[in-house]
Amino acid sequence: MPHNPKLLFFAGSAREGSYNKRLAQLAAHIADANGLAATFADLGDYPMPIYDGDSEVRDGVPENARKLKALILVHDGVFIAAPEYNASITPLLKNTLDWVSRVREEGEPTLQVFKTRVFAIGSASPGRFGGVRGLITLRQVLAVGLQALVLPDQVSIPNAERAFDEKGHLKDKAQQDHLKTVVSKLARAAKVLNGQ
Ligand SMILES: Cc1cc2nc3c(=O)[nH]c(=O)nc-3n(C[C@H](O)[C@H](O)[C@H](O)COP(=O)(O)O)c2cc1C
Repeated sequence: MPHNPKLLFFAGSAREGSYNKRLAQLAAHIADANGLAATFADLGDYPMPIYDGDSEVRDGVPENARKLKALILVHDGVFIAAPEYNASITPLLKNTLDWVSRVREEGEPTLQVFKTRVFAIGSASPGRFGGVRGLITLRQVLAVGLQALVLPDQVSIPNAERAFDEKGHLKDKAQQDHLKTVVSKLARAAKVLNGQ
């Protein structure tokens, strides 16, 4: 039986003034205002060393990778707001996804946490293109690498330093409405998939 979907929102930046954190927080706020269970997570609360195969053998996966995976597991859908670095995603986001992909309980199929969740992606950048090139990479990592279902709809916010008002909403109505649509589609898809 489908239940009310729980949605997780995070950004690929731990920076205090991060535009992508603002975007993820706004998306979480929109979900919450529409009666959905929404959680915002800050990757700054889940620091992990740069992935290294030798340290994995020696020390195992970091506790924060386990914690983040457990958090993803109690949600049905995930929204990631990803900054664009040199036309790709941030090392923080890639490293986090890499470590989480290495957390595996005995007998658990590979990449189960990603295969059983639906993702929506967005980006915000001070640049003209809104970080859209980084989303191509993120889509590849999630859909091809981690075998997750990623919604075709995505959000890109250019000129991010001027895009948000003092309440954290997008000043441009079309952008705000599009974000609402993406959150609503994520919720609907998450409800159908229901962590299966
Ligand atoms: C190493 C580096 C590379 C960057 N490359 C791009 C880029 O390719 N395209 C872009 O739009 N912005 C680029 N930027 C600017 C980021 O979009 C900007 O720093 C943004 O504020 C980062 O996201 P955040 O505000 O969520 O931390 C780059 C920034 C850094 C530090």
